[in-house]
Amino acid sequence: MSKTAISLEVNGRASEVWVSPNQSLLEVLRTEAGATDVKLGCGEGVCGTCTVLLDGEPVNACLVFAVQADGAAVTTVRGLARRVTCTCCRRASSSTPARSAASAHRAWS
Ligand code: FES
Repeated sequence: MSKTAISLEVNGRASEVWVSPNQSLLEVLRTEAGATDVKLGCGEGVCGTCTVLLDGEPVNACLVFAVQADGAAVTTVRGLARRVTCTCCRRASSSTPARSAASAHRAWS
């Protein structure tokens, strides 16, 4: 089966990958784009384990063909985690002793 080049922006990083017409976005994210934080659950669109944001809209990556995502921005859980700073980290950044605690917390997450 012939492959097609598609462009994806995964968590802000642009990449071009070659995909088969029948490859799911989930498979391509994991194997070609290095987004191993996207997980396979049921593979049938039921559990939501594979949910990613495709141009800001939640989709089940197991049900989307990769070619349908050509030119789209994909945000995975890892990408969301970068955008969100928890309340304790925000509070900690204002005081020096707590700053190291915040750094330790970020290292864990
Ligand atoms: S793996 Fe369950 S919805 Fe995609």
